[in-house]
Amino acid sequence: ATLRGVIITIDGVAASGKSTVASGVARALGVPYVSSGLLYRAVTLHGLESGLPGGDLRVLERLQAQPPRLEPHAEGNRVHLAGRDLTDDLHATRVDEGVSAYAALPEVRAWVDEQLRALPAPFVAEGRDMGTNVFPQAQAKFYLTASPRVRAERRSAERPEDLDAIEAALVERDTRDAAQSLPAADALVIDTGELSAQEVIDLIVAQVREKAAG
Ligand code: DC
Repeated sequence: ATLRGVIITIDGVAASGKSTVASGVARALGVPYVSSGLLYRAVTLHGLESGLPGGDLRVLERLQAQPPRLEPHAEGNRVHLAGRDLTDDLHATRVDEGVSAYAALPEVRAWVDEQLRALPAPFVAEGRDMGTNVFPQAQAKFYLTASPRVRAERRSAERPEDLDAIEAALVERDTRDAAQSLPAADALVIDTGELSAQEVIDLIVAQVREKAAG
């Protein structure tokens, strides 16, 4: 079965395992995955480094002048800005805390959507609104959920003493992201609480192969 031109979307809540699963599915299918969250993070870092207050619309001028470029691969995505590789700075705490304010701006969302839609299919697109707003025509859509406790336990593996604080931060981010993060009507919702990442990957790959064959 050929995957020519196929778009697979994997959306879900923060820390639901989206990027691990998207990367695993992409590797199994031999296509790149596209991390939309990394573009929102790049916009945020650009704003912070330009000295703008959180969520300032003037970031758009910065994006036009110096656009961050997403490089999708199956193993992981990288973002470049004016010859510099930003990737390793995109998970800093100040970016985690600032990203929702930028992601809430319709103009920023439109800029990110434009970058994503310019990418050549096939690919696996991972984020919050890939199956709803950005690629409503996608052939296979998935939405990952898990309880806040389960997600906090995964995040805090190296810092068990911080479990409660991590869970509270996740719930707060869920609330801030809620408007952007709903499953598409035609998405398969998967609760990853009882499943390993590999089991989720296998489930999605089987569904995609079935659709591609049919
Ligand atoms: O998936 P992530 O944690 O790297 O995403 C970072 C932030 O970007 C997240 O808090 C919400 C926002 N985001 C979004 O609004 N829409 C997307 N499609 C992807 C991410």
